[in-house]
Amino acid sequence: MSRAIQIGIIGDVHRQFDSLDVKQFNQSDYDLLLCTGDLANLWHREGLAPARQMAQLQKPTLIIPGNHDSLSLPQLVAEIKERRYLRRWLAWGQPRRLRQWQRALGPVQVGGYSVHSVPGGQDVAVVVGRPFAMGGSVLHCQPQLQRQFGVDTMAESAARLCQLVAQTSQSRLIFLAHNGPSGLGSRRDSIWGNDFDPQQGDFGDSDLREAIAFARQRGKAVLAVVAGHMHHHVKQEGQRTWHLVQDGVHYINAARVPRIFEADGRIHHHHIRLTIDDNSVTVSEQLRQGNDF
Ligand SMILES: [Fe+2]
Repeated sequence: MSRAIQIGIIGDVHRQFDSLDVKQFNQSDYDLLLCTGDLANLWHREGLAPARQMAQLQKPTLIIPGNHDSLSLPQLVAEIKERRYLRRWLAWGQPRRLRQWQRALGPVQVGGYSVHSVPGGQDVAVVVGRPFAMGGSVLHCQPQLQRQFGVDTMAESAARLCQLVAQTSQSRLIFLAHNGPSGLGSRRDSIWGNDFDPQQGDFGDSDLREAIAFARQRGKAVLAVVAGHMHHHVKQEGQRTWHLVQDGVHYINAARVPRIFEADGRIHHHHIRLTIDDNSVTVSEQLRQGNDF
């Protein structure tokens, strides 16, 4: 049996990634780190300090831009309200902001409609989904997606993801996205359920769901689907499901926000460990205390 692959998953950062995280991950046994994005809260510039911290990571690291990465605040509001013309006008500065964000991240690889190999896992690939996803099966940041990837609609996004899957030579896949797929529940505490609308509902994305279904039809083993965006804390009360196994696929919502928090008089740093060996996948939440470093 070959050695197990160890993957560390960093959920939505929202300004919280510090030198203790860098030290911990650099000293860890992880072969690869995956990050679901959202380094900033509301202002693009807030994301640059955590990006510079992540640039210090000595492990191969892959990140997908979230809906708070490289968007200006007015642009984010226009996207939320789906103001078609306003959001097009406000997107003009996004290429410059994205370049700035990527520069701050240094060696961290920024994925999006892309496929990546896994160190130590010859038959495993990571397929990275649509950047800047905000959920609800809406193609947010369409001007930027059009410019950067030639993707104009959800149908084109799904087709692009399926095309990427078809091109993979590996038989075992992990998907990394900012928001998760649709089809996994429509309660407010479902893994990607809507907790800000009293009607609740499924807030997952259909293009990602189609790509996962396509991969399975093609005989690929989908080991895990890693995403965030819908924070663990549900707005009304309680916590959403963050880990679900369906048809042998591990769905992981890594968005424990804030990921650094105080409890019982101690500071905890959250991430998730994904372990893959020849015939099993295990997922566990990791809470490290400041004095564990
Ligand atoms: Fe997000």
